[in-house]
Amino acid sequence: MLKIEHLSVNYGGIEAVRDISFEVPDGSIVTLIGANGAGKSTTLRSIAGLLKPREGSIQYNGEELIGKPTNEIVKRGITLVPEGRRVFPDMTVLENLKIGAYLRSDDLSEDIRWVYDLFPRLEERSWQAAGTLSGGEQQMLAVGRALMGKPKIIMMDEPSLGLAPLIVKGIFDIIKEINRQGVTVLLIEQNANMALHTADIAYVLETGRITMTGPGRELLRDDRIKKAYLGK
Ligand SMILES: Nc1ncnc2c1ncn2[C@@H]1O[C@H](COP(=O)(O)OP(=O)(O)O)[C@@H](O)[C@H]1O
Ligand SMILES: [Mg+2]
Repeated sequence: MLKIEHLSVNYGGIEAVRDISFEVPDGSIVTLIGANGAGKSTTLRSIAGLLKPREGSIQYNGEELIGKPTNEIVKRGITLVPEGRRVFPDMTVLENLKIGAYLRSDDLSEDIRWVYDLFPRLEERSWQAAGTLSGGEQQMLAVGRALMGKPKIIMMDEPSLGLAPLIVKGIFDIIKEINRQGVTVLLIEQNANMALHTADIAYVLETGRITMTGPGRELLRDDRIKKAYLGK
């Protein structure tokens, strides 16, 4: 289990995340929802070792992760799919997938098969330059590349951003399928509706603080959430 306690993160004088605590149990889908600027990406980037928190702890199975470099965190099975699906545009789909396994030297064919079974669209486009894929396909590739590292926890930074509703539904179906196959998911989203429908546990982040928590489906029925995040 991943356990975040009293985490605070600053950018110079700006407090982006203030004293937040939350847990990601093994096998679950946990979501942090919140408006633009709430501190969602800062939280994920801190867990991934890309930012150094000012205070608090990030423990995975009892081991402190703060201070460890990103590659050590990846080695422990925690991978980030960053915002904006940064694929390598001039490389093929298959080359992009192979890069996701950069810390491993064993045979990759089984994992490529796994990713292609999850995303048949990627197999069809195996030799296509990643930069020529649609937005939804690039998001599939970004997720597929993260899966090539065989993560225990996959963290996703707004996978639905800028995608059409039907494509978003497909991405969330895949998130559930990946989770069903045993990968723990930590998902951050502005798309509260989809995220709450998908998550076992949800936390609401507002200007750097956690203000509400509960099962996703319970928060969907909450009047404050409806008003602030679901436009109802
Ligand atoms: N590199 C940075 N330098 C300074 N401030 C930043 C930087 N990145 C984010 N911030 C600020 O930190 C706050 C949280 O940002 P972020 O974590 O990106 O929010 P979210 O992902 O929820 O939209 C915002 O006020 C944002 O302007
Ligand atoms: Mg963000």
